Amino acid sequence: MSHKINILAISGSTRKNSSNGNLIKAIAMLTTAIFTIEIFEGIDMLPHFNPDLDYGQVEENAQVAEFRRKISAADAILICTPEYALGVPGTLKNAIDWTVSTMNFSQKPVALITASTAGTRGHQSLLGTLLIIESKITKDTEVLISSIQTKVNSDLEITDQETLGLINKLINSLIEMVKGNVPVETLLPAPLL
Ligand SMILES: Cc1cc2nc3c(=O)[nH]c(=O)nc-3n(C[C@H](O)[C@H](O)[C@H](O)COP(=O)(O)O)c2cc1C
Repeated sequence: MSHKINILAISGSTRKNSSNGNLIKAIAMLTTAIFTIEIFEGIDMLPHFNPDLDYGQVEENAQVAEFRRKISAADAILICTPEYALGVPGTLKNAIDWTVSTMNFSQKPVALITASTAGTRGHQSLLGTLLIIESKITKDTEVLISSIQTKVNSDLEITDQETLGLINKLINSLIEMVKGNVPVETLLPAPLL
C-alpha cells in the first residue's frame, strides 16, 4: 500500500484535557509515517438518536450525514473512550446508534481502546455494540487500559511501557487488517442478541 492509511479517530470523552484525546494524539505522533489520523470532533453536536428521524424517513441531518460519510470513507476507525458509570459514555453511544441502520461500520477495521480508571464493563459493552454492527475487530485491536491517568501525559507521551507495547501491537494489527492480511477466523464474533 503506497498511500497512508486514513484513520477516523473518535474520542468518547469530549473533555478538553481528556486522556483519551491525548492518547489519540499520542498514537497519531507514533504513526505519522503510516497513518493520516483525522479526529472527528463533532460527536457532541449530533442530535439525540430517534428512529423516527432516521435514514429514509426525514431529510438526513447534516451532522449525522457527515459522521456517516466520514466513517464510510475511512480505511479504519480508532475509538478511544473512558467508561462512564460502568457503561459507554452516552454521547459516543448516541453517535454509534446513528450508524446502525446505515451500517457504516460493517466490515470496517476498528481499533477499540477503553482508557479509563477501570473500564472493564464499558469496554465489553462497546465491543459487543461494535461487533453486532459488523465491525472487524481482533483480540489485538481491542485494548483495555486501566489507570489511564498515570499512563499518558499532557505532552502526549505514553509513559507506561506495557501500555506502549499493547498500543504498538494494536497499531500493527490494524495495519495488517487494513491490508487484508488478517485471517477471517481471527476476527471476533458478534455476540448473540
Ligand atoms: C460521569 C463520569 C463517570 C465515570 N465513571 C467511571 C466508571 O464507571 N469507570 C471508570 O473506570 N471510570 C469512570 N470515570 C472516570 C474516568 O475514567 C476518568 O475521569 C477518565 O480519565 C475520563 O477519561 P478522559 O480523561 O478521556 O475524559 C467516570 C468519570 C465521569 C466524569
